[in-house]
Amino acid sequence: MPLIELKERSVRVILAPMEGVADAFMRNLLTDIGGYDLCVSEFIRIVDQLLPRKVFRRMCPELYNGSRTEAGVPIRVQLLGQDPQWMAENAYRAVAMGSHGLDLNFGCPARTVNKNLGGASLLRDPESIYQIVKEVRGAVPDDQVLSAKIRLGWDCKSQCVEIAQAIRDAGAKELTVHARTKEEGYKPPAHWQYIKLIKDSIDIPVIANGEIWSKADYIKCKEVSGCDDVMIGRGAVAIPNLARVLKGGDKMQWCEVKQLLIKYSEIETTGSKEKYYPQRIKQWLRYIAMQYTEGQELFIRVRSIKSTNDILKALAE
Ligand SMILES: Cc1cc2nc3c(=O)[nH]c(=O)nc-3n(C[C@H](O)[C@H](O)[C@H](O)COP(=O)(O)O)c2cc1C
Repeated sequence: MPLIELKERSVRVILAPMEGVADAFMRNLLTDIGGYDLCVSEFIRIVDQLLPRKVFRRMCPELYNGSRTEAGVPIRVQLLGQDPQWMAENAYRAVAMGSHGLDLNFGCPARTVNKNLGGASLLRDPESIYQIVKEVRGAVPDDQVLSAKIRLGWDCKSQCVEIAQAIRDAGAKELTVHARTKEEGYKPPAHWQYIKLIKDSIDIPVIANGEIWSKADYIKCKEVSGCDDVMIGRGAVAIPNLARVLKGGDKMQWCEVKQLLIKYSEIETTGSKEKYYPQRIKQWLRYIAMQYTEGQELFIRVRSIKSTNDILKALAE
């Protein structure tokens, strides 16, 4: 069988954008473990200006490194905003700075973003989504993938196909679907059957997202959504080698997770980062606690500790 066909059919696992969680350091840590084919940056909010290059580099320091994590996994910058012209100008800049394609966020549930009609609120208006994607498509060179990420709708799923078709018609080349409405927040289950509806209605690759925490979830999601490619978010930080697990590996043992937590702590307690360390490590542990009993115990022990040294002591025990 020609190699290219084999390659085309292999699964792609994409690390989800997660503001305040999957920052550059976490992306390095996770992609170093392996299994990832692409990362998407935390969203960069676009309002009414062309952002300085330093903002792109701060949000996505991988741009200094050919837009790849230290392990060599490509990263795509994600933009969030509602003004087509400013979105296009900033998209052009991100790609000119080396981003591997460009992703548009139409799923963010944050109140501040939606008050200004960005993020998920656009799901109520497929025509605006079309205008944004079209303008951005005009600015991003054809050889760069323009992708979008959506939820199934704002408070109902009835327009999900229309939204997806607007995105395809405007020229996007990939679509990630987080299989819940904005109103459903993060409440399980994810409604993967709607991804199938979308996938059957457009002719661009569709990536399934939402509630994949194990290989069994992946198999089920693939069966229901019809998608081989997936994006993983909270599961990726809860089980640090989840991408490998989806591709056939075993779930990381607790002792390995602990080593990672220690490695993370060694770096995140240096210099000015120390200020944020207690909050950051607890945030990560909260996810780990969902998948490891020992993680739950550790989280209970550290959750009320404020000092870095005391947290480090608890980790070393
Ligand atoms: C803390 C947090 C931050 C997020 N930030 C973003 C973001 O910046 N851009 C985006 O498109 N989605 C964002 N998401 C949504 C995730 O990318 C993903 O769609 C969602 O978590 C569902 O996938 P999961 O069930 O695998 O976690 C965020 C989710 C979480 C939990």
